[in-house]
Amino acid sequence: MKIELSDNKVFFENNGSKKEIHPFWLRERVNGESFVDKGTQQRLFDPTELKGNIEIKNVSLSGKFLEVAFNDGVETKLTIQSILNEFSNTNDVKFTDKIKWDSTLSNLNNFEFSKSIFEEKVMYEALISFYKYGFVIFKKVPTENDFIVKFANSIGSIRRTNFGEFFNVKSKPNPNDLAYTSLPLAPHTDNPYRNPVPCIQLLHCIENEVSGGYSTLVDGYTVTEKLKKDHPDYFKILTEIKVRYQFIDQDVVLEDWSEMIKLDENKNFKQVRFSPRLDFVPLMDKEKLDLYYAARNKISELYNSDKYRLEFKLVPGDLLMMDNYRLLHGRTSYDANEGNRFLQGCYIDYDSTEGKLKHLKRKFNI
Ligand SMILES: [Fe+2]
Repeated sequence: MKIELSDNKVFFENNGSKKEIHPFWLRERVNGESFVDKGTQQRLFDPTELKGNIEIKNVSLSGKFLEVAFNDGVETKLTIQSILNEFSNTNDVKFTDKIKWDSTLSNLNNFEFSKSIFEEKVMYEALISFYKYGFVIFKKVPTENDFIVKFANSIGSIRRTNFGEFFNVKSKPNPNDLAYTSLPLAPHTDNPYRNPVPCIQLLHCIENEVSGGYSTLVDGYTVTEKLKKDHPDYFKILTEIKVRYQFIDQDVVLEDWSEMIKLDENKNFKQVRFSPRLDFVPLMDKEKLDLYYAARNKISELYNSDKYRLEFKLVPGDLLMMDNYRLLHGRTSYDANEGNRFLQGCYIDYDSTEGKLKHLKRKFNI
């Protein structure tokens, strides 16, 4: 990647393809003191108010800088690297390569907690690991009540839901969700009925005295790629048909329509939703429903298969951070008479982890 000049025009060259950079694009980036606020890096001018045709009057490359004089009398000196950064994907976590995994995964992405971890390089490594595998486990997190709130807010901002700012996972009488019982929970994603669905779940183990109650994780990315390869017709229909996810409580009815496997604009994996207690398939032709139900059964079989399910026990002090768009989670049953099992959970969104990651990348010059 490099910048080239010709006839007062600036070109961006990458792998043999050469494109002119629009003069206005450069004009928007002028960075002198009277154009950009030093502290916030926010513009002090409104580019939509610039009238007339912006052209380059003079341009030169000198060392690490591109110096430009525009026809409206403004001059600026931009670092070439800052321009190249805008054309590369290295800053964007969307381009972190996901690593597919199944039950044979032996590295549980453990990182030891310390008070100052949120500002340390190890947090950058933990977040990169999170984006690669979809989960990470912090060990030795203080087992204080509500510590999860402090933890979440030290990465970004808590995403409050209908279950509150955070929720206590322990069996209780008259629960409004099966999570609050000692019953087994098959792999599922959380809150598929919300718009938008909370991105990341944090689960902090405070007590776990029972012999059962193992946590389970399944990589939805691995499973849907497998489905795409072995049963393309099933994959296709699950990525096309929107189903209604619904949650009903005493004072709220939450509903959202979405595909069970959601792809992005490039037809790549974006999100899975799976919660067979909460989904309602629309009425379609019988043949189409036959195919849809067969597809749903197949993906359910894969999600529930031993081959893909990671099973491990959270011990007090463990804090599991998992991607609710990529992973499914669940737990095995336990006997509440054996002792206490107490976890606290909450959600944060991707802008929290992305914001922290970019901050640490900048801080440590990575
Ligand atoms: Fe859940």
